[in-house]
Amino acid sequence: MKNAMINYIKNEKFDDIYTPEYAITPLLEYIPRNITVWECCDFGGSKITKLLKEHGCEVISTDKEENFFEYKPKENFDMIITNPPYSLKDEFLKKCYEWNKPFCLLLPITALEGKTRGEMYRKNGIEVLVLDGRVQFMENMIKDYTKKKSGNWFNTSWFCHNVLPEKLIFKELKKQSKQSWLKKYSKTSFNLQKWLDKNVKLCYTIITIKKGEKT
Ligand SMILES: C[S@@+](CC[C@H](N)C(=O)[O-])C[C@H]1O[C@@H](n2cnc3c(N)ncnc32)[C@H](O)[C@@H]1O
Repeated sequence: MKNAMINYIKNEKFDDIYTPEYAITPLLEYIPRNITVWECCDFGGSKITKLLKEHGCEVISTDKEENFFEYKPKENFDMIITNPPYSLKDEFLKKCYEWNKPFCLLLPITALEGKTRGEMYRKNGIEVLVLDGRVQFMENMIKDYTKKKSGNWFNTSWFCHNVLPEKLIFKELKKQSKQSWLKKYSKTSFNLQKWLDKNVKLCYTIITIKKGEKT
């Protein structure tokens, strides 16, 4: 069962899943404002970048074109925060330790075990912000509530270094409901509950047309 789960996570389809805001919010209280953070896996719409900016941080955003293993940001940075591709999690951990800066990586909880990682953790230390539920990752930003979400049956948590005040912190994951998402983005005043009960896809289309965006 455990091996099945590990092989499942190694599947490269989990390299291109995107982090919803509710998975990032529990981490924010441990991130100082006014620091510069490197989001090194920002495909152009990372919610990590968005929330950190709202939090008051400067953010350097790069993606695979820059290649985390070779790129050196021109600006100084204080911390690395990202959700890396899971097929490269050991390599990302190794490189983060090499940078010798505080970091936070959103990883499957099974990344706690393993010989290579165990050696890295023993040598350098690790803190974990354990989330009490599974994050429903997005296939892309627009598809979030309109298409089938990428299902996952593993828990992910924030693996940190020199960030958390304790080695283990347990946090509640407060998922966004469809309704709160629609309330936030909808400028219309029709009965949301009625539409939610019927067809969210249609509801989303109406909202985007009203906002003058392409569907
Ligand atoms: C799991 S997605 C997460 C994206 C975003 N950080 C988020 O949390 O929503 C992983 C991202 O890593 C990027 N990536 C893959 N290999 C990379 C590399 N060698 N250097 C930097 N980014 C890479 C992919 O383009 C993809 O956008």
